[in-house]
Amino acid sequence: ARIPAPDLKSCSRATITDGPEVPYSCCPPKPEDLDKVPYYKFPSMTKLRIRSPAHEVNEEYIGKYELAISRMRELDKSDPHDPRSFKQQANVHCAYCNGAYKIGGKELQVHFSWLFFPFHRWYLYFYERILGSLIDDPTFALPYWNWDHPKGMHLPPMFDVPGSSLYDARRNPHVRNGTIMDLGSFGEEPYRLGTAPKPGAGTIENIPHNAIHAWTGTVPGSKLENGHESFGENMGNFYSVGLDPVFYCHHINVDRMWNEWKATGGKRRDLADKDWLNSEFFFYDENCDPWRVKVRDCLDHKKMGYDYAPMPTPWRNFKP
Ligand code: C2O
Repeated sequence: ARIPAPDLKSCSRATITDGPEVPYSCCPPKPEDLDKVPYYKFPSMTKLRIRSPAHEVNEEYIGKYELAISRMRELDKSDPHDPRSFKQQANVHCAYCNGAYKIGGKELQVHFSWLFFPFHRWYLYFYERILGSLIDDPTFALPYWNWDHPKGMHLPPMFDVPGSSLYDARRNPHVRNGTIMDLGSFGEEPYRLGTAPKPGAGTIENIPHNAIHAWTGTVPGSKLENGHESFGENMGNFYSVGLDPVFYCHHINVDRMWNEWKATGGKRRDLADKDWLNSEFFFYDENCDPWRVKVRDCLDHKKMGYDYAPMPTPWRNFKP
């Protein structure tokens, strides 16, 4: 059967992957009428949002992006229960991926299965709209971390400026200063994501997706700035990934890979399985309204109002 939208009433404490309980609640604020969360309808739009490669954006764009994220961070202080706030947005990932929600008595987990691409697509969709609305720019689009192109194989520089709203101190120092990703050592990195038995992840989810998470986060077992043991925070553990702004930029490229996959080989199609198409998620939008969304409504990205600025995909012609 399909996976229904999570039951918010039974949302409970989440567990750090390979670690103890998350020390705070990741559950979203409860909507007024829990039993009548409506199905999402796409608002009208005039112009597609165009997502560009992160290593190519200009200063003006970076200024807007920083402003949008700092407004989101301000909401953490002015109203921690505002579903648009920085921490609430990060909690979305924690709730869906660290056992806060239960489905049929088991923990809900959107990774390691066919929910991986659609869940993150919807998540980014609302996150991007929230950022745009915080700066009154209905065309604002997130950038993509173009790690599949030689020029994009390092942390995009705008995320590496201490003091910027895009900076996160909880990263492995080896990601700093334009260091090229060390693909060769990925197999040796501690691998916090995906250690529990799950139905099975696709190739993109394993590498480079999980590898980049582990490469960017702090080293598991090391000490965090607060003296606690690191479980890979922020980018290397499901519950905390959303606290690093680069997480969303990483996933925009994962989302782009879904499109590239459909475009390569000509005849690739999304699944026709009804259990997949009718699976649902719960999200808040930029007006703090709660919605249920279906997988079937996220298959056409242009209908969702965005597209990707094209980049060459050198790997397409590569034959090992
Ligand atoms: Cu939901 Cu990259 O993890």
